[in-house]
Amino acid sequence: MMLASTELFNEIDDLEKQVFDSVAVIGATGSVGTIILQLLEQRNFQAKTFRFLASARSAGKKIVFQGKEVVVEELTKDSFTGVDLVIASTPDETAAEFLPYAVEAGAKIIDESGYWRMNDDVALVIPEINPQDALNAKGIIASPNCSTTQMVMAMKPLHDISPIRRVIVSTYQATSGAGVQGDEDLVQGSKARLENREYEYKVFQHPIAFNAIPQIGSEKHEGYTSEEMKMVYETRKILGDDSIQINPTCVRIPVWNCHSESITVETESPISPEQAREAFAAFPGIQVMDNLNESVYPMPSNCDGLNDVFVGRIRKDISHPNGLSFWCVSDNLRKGAATNAVQIAELLSENHAVASNL
Ligand SMILES: NC(=O)c1ccc[n+]([C@@H]2O[C@H](COP(=O)([O-])OP(=O)(O)OC[C@H]3O[C@@H](n4cnc5c(N)ncnc54)[C@H](OP(=O)(O)O)[C@@H]3O)[C@@H](O)[C@H]2O)c1
Repeated sequence: MMLASTELFNEIDDLEKQVFDSVAVIGATGSVGTIILQLLEQRNFQAKTFRFLASARSAGKKIVFQGKEVVVEELTKDSFTGVDLVIASTPDETAAEFLPYAVEAGAKIIDESGYWRMNDDVALVIPEINPQDALNAKGIIASPNCSTTQMVMAMKPLHDISPIRRVIVSTYQATSGAGVQGDEDLVQGSKARLENREYEYKVFQHPIAFNAIPQIGSEKHEGYTSEEMKMVYETRKILGDDSIQINPTCVRIPVWNCHSESITVETESPISPEQAREAFAAFPGIQVMDNLNESVYPMPSNCDGLNDVFVGRIRKDISHPNGLSFWCVSDNLRKGAATNAVQIAELLSENHAVASNL
């Protein structure tokens, strides 16, 4: 029997909580994986055993988790025997190659990579928006791209007041979005530039130090990049509305962590800034920081390390009667990745508890 998510949360309190037997965190040594481990620990996620996996490069490394040392294992196709929940944050090609073995082994899978998101059999989930899709999913549940998640979180309360017909969004994306090596490029590239030395960038097409690069990914569709088209396709899938028109420009900037977005939405009927402020404030996982006269708005410097999505600079679009503009910042490693995945894991765990007691 499948329960609506609110019924589910109420029932859980009355039941003896069951836990997953074995949880495997894949990509545990990466930027996202490291935060996933922190969150599982801080939020006291229950499982009988945790296994941490990564590439052969990391096999044998030790990670202290819940007071115990866990040795990192190399991921192989046989890694999933006895595992009932997988949380994976690896490059696309690793997810493509290995996750089918996890499906075959009968595990539930939460995947951070971009590889499976648009597959018809895969749920693409933000727990505040479409939790039921996670509960109905059979194998892989994908977590959206980081720039998509914060935008869709901010769109949803507005879309519920009056359907959004069109979005124009420009992103200002942090280097941590490109993983451990992205951070390294920012730090080493900046040092080299200040010391007037050459540095060979590993992940960016151009020097990221003291620069802005208007390309994230490769060309995907009519001059738009793969990162930009993710924002289009994934948003439509999560909101279940293929008619929403989205025009994104994604830019990498020399900020360590937290993506910022300038967003303008056009709705079927006008939404006033006051209505929008109220709807944002009432939505779970969104916080409003909005007082221009006092210079209060979200920035990477005041959102780093926080799990929510932050909005500010909420104002009427002076160029269109049904337009609304705002600024949105979120920690890409958290709500853009690890926090969203752990929230999905919590949802599955609670459902697992209910199912085990029926
Ligand atoms: N960074 C973000 O803001 C963000 C947001 C949303 C989604 N994502 C997605 O999340 C995924 C991980 O991103 P990240 O930023 O954490 O990258 P990362 O820092 O480069 O970490 C990649 C992880 O994958 C592991 N890995 C690489 N190749 C592997 C293989 N053949 N077998 C097993 N493990 C392998 C690495 O292990 P080793 O340490 O052994 O190399 C590492 O643990 C990517 O698909 C990314 O697109 C990232």
